Amino acid sequence: MTSEIIRFHDLHPTHADFEREALAGLRRRPAGIPPKFFYDERGSRLFDAITSTEEYYPTRAEIEILETRAQEIAAHVGTGSLLVEPGGGSCAKVRILLEGLQPCAYVPMDISRDHLRMAAEQVAAEFPWLEVHAAHADFTHRMEVPPTAPEGPRVAFFPGSSIGNFHPEAAVEFLAAVVDLVGPGGFLLIGVDLPKDKAVLEAAYDDADGVTAAFNLNLLERMNRELDADFDLDHWTHRAIYNEPESRVEMHLVSTRNQQVTVAGEVFKFARGETIHTENSHKYAIDRFQAMARRAGMNAAGVWTDHHGLFSVHLLRAGIAVVDT
Ligand code: AVJ
Repeated sequence: MTSEIIRFHDLHPTHADFEREALAGLRRRPAGIPPKFFYDERGSRLFDAITSTEEYYPTRAEIEILETRAQEIAAHVGTGSLLVEPGGGSCAKVRILLEGLQPCAYVPMDISRDHLRMAAEQVAAEFPWLEVHAAHADFTHRMEVPPTAPEGPRVAFFPGSSIGNFHPEAAVEFLAAVVDLVGPGGFLLIGVDLPKDKAVLEAAYDDADGVTAAFNLNLLERMNRELDADFDLDHWTHRAIYNEPESRVEMHLVSTRNQQVTVAGEVFKFARGETIHTENSHKYAIDRFQAMARRAGMNAAGVWTDHHGLFSVHLLRAGIAVVDT
């Protein structure tokens, strides 16, 4: 079914990337696969389910901040902006900002094609005054506004602490790419999870109902479906641990016995206890994150936390780069 409600820009070849990056990651020891491949249709649905578990606090905390601070944020940013959301596949949190911000257009970009299209169409239907340009793209490789999008002061929105998936150095590079995207004087509104008690963090990434476990294990099922793999789900388990020195939660898939797996015709051996590292979720204190932003060429324009002090939302403004090493 085609729709006239949004402009859909397809910039991303998914299957070849998945095969190449998954095989490269499985050849390495320790093995690892980038977390962006969690988000096939089922993975995107499981992620949405994670955000409603009791233990996963970031979504609730960030929504509280956005709801209570929307007017304040709009006062800083102004109206008529081009609102760009890299990774904005579900277009969920942006709704909180749209009435207050009155952007000239909204540009969600995401790797999950169908999810993005449906979500973008829904936003366009809910906000009939809003121009929506959905871009199917892997923003970890490329961040570009589709050429047909209108002009306006640019505001990037990167909620959910997705920045946590990058290593700290790569996070600074990403922030620098956002500076290029929004230009001098442009803004970035970004959600960043805060360091906290190990037990709270580990529960958030290993909920009692097993939703996060299913989300992690879906990566193996996705390889079975799309890469002609034969992972036996009875012999892999989910593990989430807080690596305190690195200030990050790590997710792994643990092989529970010696086994051999074939993926796209290639054979991989895993010993009992060996893991595939599937995600890092870095946690940043406010001052540490602001220092990273300065290195990327952005200055703090505001920062807010929820009433439990679990999560932060930073408003950063691209300016003259200040070298601060
Ligand atoms: C979407 C990357 C922000 O790291 O908290 C949730 C993904 N993984 N539960 C996060 C995730 C396991 C999430 N991000």
